Amino acid sequence: MYIKKTFSTLFILLVMATVAITDSTSFTIHVIGDSTVATYKSSVYPQTGWGQVVGSFFNESQVLINNVAIGGRSSKTFFTDGRLAALKSQVKPGDYLFVQFGHNDRYFGSNARQVPLDSFAYFLKIYLDSARSWNAIPVLVSPMVMNAWASNGTMRNVFTENGSDYRGVMEKLAKEQDVAFVDLNMRSFEDCKKWGQTYISSFLYHHYDVGDYPNWPQGSSDGTHFQENGSVSNARWIANEISSLSSSTYLSNATKQKLLPLIDALKPHYEVTVKTNKNVSGLVTKTALFPAGAPLTLRVKPASGETFEYWADADCRQVSTSQIYYGIQAPGKPTTYTAMFKGGSACVQASVPSSSSNEVSSSSSVEVSSSSVIVIRPEILSWVDMANPDSGSGTTDVNHEGYTGEGFWNIENALGSKAFYQLESKNASTNAVMAIRYANGSTETRSMKVTLDGWTYSVAFPPTETWATWDTIFVEDVWIDAVSMPLVIESTSETGGPNIDALGLSVLGLTRESSITSIEVISKNKSLLFSNNNPVQILLFDALGTCFLNQQFSSFEYENFMSSLAPGVYYIKGIQEEKTFFEQRVTKKK
Ligand code: GCU
Repeated sequence: MYIKKTFSTLFILLVMATVAITDSTSFTIHVIGDSTVATYKSSVYPQTGWGQVVGSFFNESQVLINNVAIGGRSSKTFFTDGRLAALKSQVKPGDYLFVQFGHNDRYFGSNARQVPLDSFAYFLKIYLDSARSWNAIPVLVSPMVMNAWASNGTMRNVFTENGSDYRGVMEKLAKEQDVAFVDLNMRSFEDCKKWGQTYISSFLYHHYDVGDYPNWPQGSSDGTHFQENGSVSNARWIANEISSLSSSTYLSNATKQKLLPLIDALKPHYEVTVKTNKNVSGLVTKTALFPAGAPLTLRVKPASGETFEYWADADCRQVSTSQIYYGIQAPGKPTTYTAMFKGGSACVQASVPSSSSNEVSSSSSVEVSSSSVIVIRPEILSWVDMANPDSGSGTTDVNHEGYTGEGFWNIENALGSKAFYQLESKNASTNAVMAIRYANGSTETRSMKVTLDGWTYSVAFPPTETWATWDTIFVEDVWIDAVSMPLVIESTSETGGPNIDALGLSVLGLTRESSITSIEVISKNKSLLFSNNNPVQILLFDALGTCFLNQQFSSFEYENFMSSLAPGVYYIKGIQEEKTFFEQRVTKKK
């Protein structure tokens, strides 16, 4: 017993010592890959590989990056060059080995590089085995998409299409080998597809017009390699994938444990909102999330007839007149840049303190997602209650707690069920982040089409565990053009939408436009007339609160009614759509 106890105490001490050492010791991420990963000289800027910028996504005081990726190599030739062997002396126990191959393996132009699909796993496994024999932790990164589009306009994924599913082979190997799989391929495919060919060509890939960059006077046309902004996107997708590894279903707990230092070293991401002062059809850098210090490029490519004037920062100061504003860094807090175009509205400062009473600040602008990447967005500055639409199929409910305002809207569980709200915004002509507070107690993601001011956004509402658990989903970049704007929510599947509590915007001044605010009360011939034709609930009570009348009228002859009452002070109230729009004190003389 005594011996046993000593042993376990000793064991605990040893474990603690190991933990302490791991925590305080920095580790290195060795990055192995090809030209899409490699580090480039400044003389070819902005060409960049993700291995060059991924360091800013990790806590620099803890993590070193050793980028040994080199152009033209496949999983085979990096190894046969002796480059993996050369790494051995640099790798310490607890380091990570990130391995991305596929571009040259699939490269049909060169037999020397090429690795047929059925040998890809064989070569990749050499990296896994070496890493593990060095007590390092391997991470497989699937190759990001190439800028390839089918003639019908849909994006191709050259690493999954028929006969060349390099991504699939890598995923299968990772699962069999209990190794982290960072699916850069799928992440990049989803976003690039959404952003579209024109945008990704000029804003992500190594593709420049004449005169864009001094290092590329003749321009460049390349759908394989990346400019800095594209490699930062690749690094962001990688960071997002890493952050979700701890909840992966295929990794053993032992492997997840080994990945924890990597996951813990990820830095928080802050939103850099890119707005325009008018709605333009040219291209503008997308709003995105960046860790502090990540390189940032702001760019516009105006359509013909649109004139770009300058970039304004969050305080509306002019910071650059260049269409491509680069060499800046993400500040490590949410910020806003506005692309100012000729003929647009004045710049709106990003952080105006909330003052008006019907504008509630969100409780927090920090969202800790299911993963460990913390997303920090601009604050949602005004909210409206969604419990009572102007019209719609569904019910206003209060049976699940945690809602705000008067309840929540439970939309009918049917394909195409809708609700309509007339909203008003005092901030016309601006982009904003839209927030929707919802609960989805089912086990499936429910999707809706949200149409605000004529622009439709597809919004997915993941399960929130219970109907009384409320979460907020953000739509990053909505355009608000008109002062009065209709909002329509529509379910896109038979299961209907989630329960919707409230909708907010990152600008001040969002309110429900109420039809009753426009009611005029005309006092005529000792009666009250109401300018809208709907019946009005009239309440009449005395100063002690005794109610003498509670009835619907379309016009109310108060003199007539009051003749039956004793002299004194009375109050008349008009209520429509559950809101008091009219209250008046009347005195009946003796
Ligand atoms: C449950 C829940 C409702 C919800 C509904 C749904 O009935 O109580 O609040 O709207 O499921 O599936 O949409």
